[in-house]
Amino acid sequence: MDHRLTNHIGDAKKGANLFKTRCAQCHTLKAGEGNKIGPMLHGLFGRKTGQVEGYSYTDANKQKGITWDENTLFDYLENPKKFIPGTKMAFGGLKKAKDRNDLITFLKEETA
Ligand code: HEC
Repeated sequence: MDHRLTNHIGDAKKGANLFKTRCAQCHTLKAGEGNKIGPMLHGLFGRKTGQVEGYSYTDANKQKGITWDENTLFDYLENPKKFIPGTKMAFGGLKKAKDRNDLITFLKEETA
């Protein structure tokens, strides 16, 4: 079983660095920054999958039908293609629970 650290506050600074090196080429964080290769992440927490206006998702991502929060992101980011079979997100995953926890702490602050 996975050890979820999601009730534990991660290290947002480490998360920022992970975002910069692993996600920023495809995603933006702030309102108005728009979509890149992937949909913008502004407003991510509490949003259902596949809801960004004007972004062309795969049916797999759109139809996953879950709400993004600390727990769903924790599972997704470990192995996106396993969590959403058929996704076009070309990212292998963050295998370390601590990395995911740090990144999610950062994302929660920066996408609000
Ligand atoms: C090479 C580009 C690329 C990288 C790197 C990447 N993504 Fe993505 N991401 C995408 C694409 C493309 C989609 C849309 C997938 C689809 O429609 O199947 C997506 C979808 C998502 C979604 C679902 C959004 C929604 O509205 O349902 C989340 C959350 C996400 N990415 C977070 C991340 C995070 C966090 C990272 C860094 C760890 C990351 N992505 C790295 C391209 C990327």
